[in-house]
Amino acid sequence: MTQLLGVALRGTGSCLPARVVPNHEFTDALNLDTSDEWIRTRTGIRERRFAGLGETSATLGTAASRNAIDSAGLTADDIDLIVCATVTPDLMCPSTANLIQAGLGCRHIPAFDISAACSGFLYALSVASQFVRTGAAKHTLVVGAEVLTRTTDFTDRNSCILFGDGAGAVVLSGTPVLNAGIRMIRLYSDGTRQELIQVPSKVTPNPPPGPPQLQRLDYLRLSGREVFRFAVTRMVELIEQAEIDCRELGLSGIDVLIPHQVNQRIIDAALESSEFPSEKVMVNLDKYGNTSAASVPIALDEALRTGRCKPGDTVLLVAFGGGLTWSSALIAL
Ligand code: UT7
Repeated sequence: MTQLLGVALRGTGSCLPARVVPNHEFTDALNLDTSDEWIRTRTGIRERRFAGLGETSATLGTAASRNAIDSAGLTADDIDLIVCATVTPDLMCPSTANLIQAGLGCRHIPAFDISAACSGFLYALSVASQFVRTGAAKHTLVVGAEVLTRTTDFTDRNSCILFGDGAGAVVLSGTPVLNAGIRMIRLYSDGTRQELIQVPSKVTPNPPPGPPQLQRLDYLRLSGREVFRFAVTRMVELIEQAEIDCRELGLSGIDVLIPHQVNQRIIDAALESSEFPSEKVMVNLDKYGNTSAASVPIALDEALRTGRCKPGDTVLLVAFGGGLTWSSALIAL
């Protein structure tokens, strides 16, 4: 009989490219019809990071993973599984997780990618945690890594100002205490609304749907206004469901909420509807923009490193994005 284990969050790490791109570069360097004021007031973003030459989801993911393994007090040899969430893999094949495995010098462990856009990290967390819970893996590495600026149309002011590059990673480890660590993960999808956010590739049927100016095959396509409404509605549902989950699991409540770092106005609208206190929310989108699958683990790592959350806290992670997908995780630190 399989002995079920608790799944502890043992370490976190992140890696951001060095190149900082402030809002004014979109007007000064790219001649775009926008302004620092518009971007700040409509999104909350002040700057983001762009991957430099040679930096990819795999290199950023490998560096974030090294930091997570160090903070867990482990070595690459201890890792039994790598799951990487990305929609901007270095290659269609092999997976980014394979490249990270090689970069870290891990043993011949299973390594694979998950594609669930901005919810990807929570989907990956769910898969990896089940390996740990059943005892199939003792220590697993879960990575969110993206270079979305490589798929961005820099003539489209509606989308190009939103995104940044980076990676975050966590190490999950088995613990004999069943009620420790990850307490609940909820995952959802609605493929009927797939057209709202798309990142096409070489294998996408041609011509893709959408306005002619966005028909270059590898450009991200986004219906910002519709995604905005979807994101607020789902974030409210996820918070309210998590509050119910807390009561049912005997947790005293949510100490820190770490949402997908997408738009300050989305976060504010969801907090207002759900009456969730804004002082309990971790936000760093002003510095990094929307890094898709990397946004939640980067914010989680920063929250832990800066003391924004501490051992004993209950943390709620929520994410939503292309698919459409939405997701949450309740973790007792
Ligand atoms: O992680 C999931 C992916 N993320 C998203 O999908 C983002 C979700 N959506 C959003 O964050 C917001 O919808 C945006 C930031 C994309 C847009 O903000 P908004 O308040 O929803 O603006 P809007 O689309 O309603 O556009 C308002 C106006 C439009 O002009 P008109 O038609 O009123 O003349 C846009 O053309 O703002 C214009 N606009 C801009 N103006 C200056 C759109 N982008 C810009 C810009 N600079 N960068």
